[in-house]
Amino acid sequence: MFLILLYFILYCKQKLYLVNIEVLLLNGKMKIPLKKPVLVTSALPYVNGECHIGHLRTYVPADIYVRVLRKMGYDVVFISGSDTHGTPIVLSAEAQGITPQAVVEKYHQHFKRMFQALNVNFDYYGRTDSESNHRRTEEIVKKLIDNGYVYKKETKQAFCNTCGRFLPDRYVEGKCPYCGAIARGDECDQGCGKHLEPGEIIEPRCKICGSEADFKEQEQFYFKLSAFADFLISYLDHLGGTLNARNYAKEWTRKELRDWCVTRNLEWGVKFPGRGDLVVYVWVDAPIGYISFTEDLIKEKGEDEKEWRKYWKENKATIVHFIGTDIIYHHCIFWPAMLKGAGYSLPDAVVASGMVKIDGKTFSKSRGNVVWATEFLERFHPDTLRYYLVAQSSHTKELDFSWDSFYTRVNHELVAILGNLVHRVVSFTYKNFGAVPEGDIEEEVFAQIELTREEVISAMEEYEFKKLVDAVMKLAYFGNSFFQREEPWHLIKEGEKGRERCGGIVKNVLQIIKAVCILMEAVMPDKMAEVWSQLGMESDVHSVMLDELMMPIKSGQTLKKPKKLFERVEV
Ligand code: 2FM
Ligand code: ZN
Repeated sequence: MFLILLYFILYCKQKLYLVNIEVLLLNGKMKIPLKKPVLVTSALPYVNGECHIGHLRTYVPADIYVRVLRKMGYDVVFISGSDTHGTPIVLSAEAQGITPQAVVEKYHQHFKRMFQALNVNFDYYGRTDSESNHRRTEEIVKKLIDNGYVYKKETKQAFCNTCGRFLPDRYVEGKCPYCGAIARGDECDQGCGKHLEPGEIIEPRCKICGSEADFKEQEQFYFKLSAFADFLISYLDHLGGTLNARNYAKEWTRKELRDWCVTRNLEWGVKFPGRGDLVVYVWVDAPIGYISFTEDLIKEKGEDEKEWRKYWKENKATIVHFIGTDIIYHHCIFWPAMLKGAGYSLPDAVVASGMVKIDGKTFSKSRGNVVWATEFLERFHPDTLRYYLVAQSSHTKELDFSWDSFYTRVNHELVAILGNLVHRVVSFTYKNFGAVPEGDIEEEVFAQIELTREEVISAMEEYEFKKLVDAVMKLAYFGNSFFQREEPWHLIKEGEKGRERCGGIVKNVLQIIKAVCILMEAVMPDKMAEVWSQLGMESDVHSVMLDELMMPIKSGQTLKKPKKLFERVEV
């Protein structure tokens, strides 16, 4: 009875997968040329507080993408780093009564530890206050000045008479002039998501003392974004990545593009050339980190220092940025315009993940509506979180986190489908054969594996990580049904012939498990390494290529003592 119920549930899930896959086909496809190296970046977290699952929704899929691309044979470099400047850092330092430097040191190390714990394996994880980033930022800003794209202008800035200082960006809160929502000085973070220029916010208040802010004239430097309107329109037409990024950016470009204030009255940051009293806006030096970290990586690897030019000057690489939807404007408008103006290579794709909600409510650190990465890792295996983050929703859609949905994914999918397949089949084989039995892989099995391989590749071309896990879980489901259908536990009792036939069946299911392992390694690297070892494989599952999918598992290789892969989580 229980089995019938289980298979009914699995059957319904299978149907659900098919429906989901159709929905997912909405994203634009992009085939990356195999002969070029690929540079994948993941947005730089502000290191002003702890890592939470909102962050991980971008980093984990980026890491999965890199792992699959490498299995497909691409030469990939994966880069990120800490965003150490701007008012998020300075305000956090003021609140804690410590220096910005101390805030940055503390959380830079914290983020590095979190990425390591979650197996998000950057080739280089830098920080924007590095000497190389200061140098590259100055070089680019000077180039923009020389090319006539930066000019000086008197402008109104929010000023607090009580605190006696200017209020850049997050130092000020007020109403968004476009949608009326409560907004920060430089972005309407709770409403329409628009970038706001200094002086634009309505009814400004000082974030430090709460008093009404004034406006004062001040000399600042502006980037001529308006000069890039035509360029951006045609650039965005060809930009790869997810459609949400391209479409939002196109819509903004069709409206008037206003010039962009690129300096701030702050001590902490990269000094604007020739002006000791001004630093560049954090959104200038932060993305430049993508370039300076590439330079640092090349140096670290001992390669010719000029190698970074291949990525950023000579259009010899494919550049893919993974970001959250809240920073589409910065990556699809400011950043390409800056690169174009300074003579650098342009990004080929921008992949924007949807925002995270908690139990249907807007994610908010101040309101305690947040799930911290450390809190998660104290209780659960990191791979379960990696799986959940991609299985729960399509990449560009909102992800509504709830503990219930997490338990359901773990218990009904990881335990009941994947864990069950591995444990049941490896245990049966271990007990009856001790090693991979003799036999041929059936065409039906190879066909399912091939189909899954194609689905995984197409998922990568569409940046749909949910489609990847759904396809692999479907293969695991097929493995379970194959085993169930052939009833090898009866065959084993039917003399020599039966044992032989049983061995053949088992070998086929082990082949399916091997394929699941290769294809799911990108999502659950630790757990799949465990399975790989139970199968008695000698190679390293992390570096095995997709070609290995069609190679029959070796008869005679000794299995390891099976161990349960996932534990049920109690609600
Ligand atoms: O929004 C943020 O959290 C920024 N720190 C992202 C910067 S990404 C890149 F451009 F540097
Ligand atoms: Zn708004």
